[in-house]
Amino acid sequence: MSNWFPENVSTFGTDVDGVFWLIFYITAVWFVLTEGLIIYFLFRYRRKPGQKAAYILGDTWNQLAWVLVPLAIVVVLDVLIDIRGADVWAKVKGQRPPAEIVVLTAGKQFNWEFTYPGPDGKFGTPDDLKLDNELHVPVGKVVHVKLTAKDVIHSFFLPHLRLKQDVVPGREITAWFEVTKPGEYEIPCAELCGFGHSGMNGRLYAHTAEDYEKWLKERWSAEK
Ligand code: CUA
Repeated sequence: MSNWFPENVSTFGTDVDGVFWLIFYITAVWFVLTEGLIIYFLFRYRRKPGQKAAYILGDTWNQLAWVLVPLAIVVVLDVLIDIRGADVWAKVKGQRPPAEIVVLTAGKQFNWEFTYPGPDGKFGTPDDLKLDNELHVPVGKVVHVKLTAKDVIHSFFLPHLRLKQDVVPGREITAWFEVTKPGEYEIPCAELCGFGHSGMNGRLYAHTAEDYEKWLKERWSAEK
């Protein structure tokens, strides 16, 4: 059933999907069980001639158990999901591995603007390169994107990498990822940001190490 999702191409994607499936299967089992019971009880205890409905106060332990036992089960399952979820959260949003590549990313109506530091590795120098809607990275490297917004709130979404981060004016938020498979992946904006929101869609080009080197060379020799 995992083919509902776009292919996962990030190092932490499997963990994120794991939390989804954990919640999905827990809720699916309980949905079928409870709806099944409701339908069964509807028929089993339907109106019959000469039979009066019982008025249940819920003041005996026997009756209260119908509330307390499911409550206990819900709490246990909830804690289970929280523990697993906190683990994955820490991995994706908490412990950021050191950056091998840093790209400034600005959301603006209605484009993603990516800035590369250039050969000197510093931002704010003449060899910086700005690209609209094109993010080039090599696979197998930790990429940090420093996210800012120039106007309103946007949301930086990499569905194939299971990464989504709001981009907020007045704040710089760093997200990270490591791509595992070369290819071209979309970067839609996932926060309604105006009339052009649906067209705000960038591209992530994940290159092999050699192709990325080639791209860097071509880019910066073309600039100079
Ligand atoms: Cu930017 Cu929606």
